[in-house]
Amino acid sequence: MKVNARFVASATSPESFLRDRRPEVAFLGRSNVGKSSVINSLLGVKGLARTSSTPGRTQSINFFLINEAFYFVDLPGYGYAKAAQEKRRAWGRLIEKYLAKRPQLVLSILIVDARHEPSPLDLQMQSWLQHFGLSYLVVSTKIDKLSGAERRTIRQRTRKAFDTERMIPYSALTRSGAAELWGEIQASMARSPAVAES
Ligand code: GTP
Ligand code: MG
Repeated sequence: MKVNARFVASATSPESFLRDRRPEVAFLGRSNVGKSSVINSLLGVKGLARTSSTPGRTQSINFFLINEAFYFVDLPGYGYAKAAQEKRRAWGRLIEKYLAKRPQLVLSILIVDARHEPSPLDLQMQSWLQHFGLSYLVVSTKIDKLSGAERRTIRQRTRKAFDTERMIPYSALTRSGAAELWGEIQASMARSPAVAES
């Protein structure tokens, strides 16, 4: 698929969430796990979503318009240990407001590190997605850092850890998993009533 993508808005409060009702695909995960890198690799661009080796880079909700048709939404990462308590609370409130009231949110992509067991915060995030009744899938990223043997079992291990069938092994570096993830994104659009109306 030929993609045209541009950054359109950055929101730090619900008042600045977009109002045009195009469908949205959200990217969630621990701080520094590789959310922005998944977005950039899907789009085949470098640096559209800002990446960094410093955790906590993305602190606002960033909206990218894809092919004038739908949005990729880059959410700020959770679990950044050095963030002040108050900042972490503000993060929680912002994400919760976004997830709780977003009928145009057709798919949430929970990004986790393929090298580690899920953290309590990853599992809590999954519970939130389930609580809000959202369609989601787990993307296990950085598989380029796994050994061949680990790569062969990553699907099975992630499915077990999150108790879900919906998962994709991924690498932003090699783009492994990108075609499969695009397939899921397009299937979500096709299922969404918001698309039919627009
Ligand atoms: P915050 O916005 O700060 O929460 O981070 P993020 O989750 O958006 O992570 P980001 O995409 O900025 O990536 C964090 C670091 O991981 C960067 O140094 C990336 O180069 C690296 N990285 C991301 N994805 C991959 C991957 O698939 N493979 C490898 N080897 N490195 C990756
Ligand atoms: Mg980021």
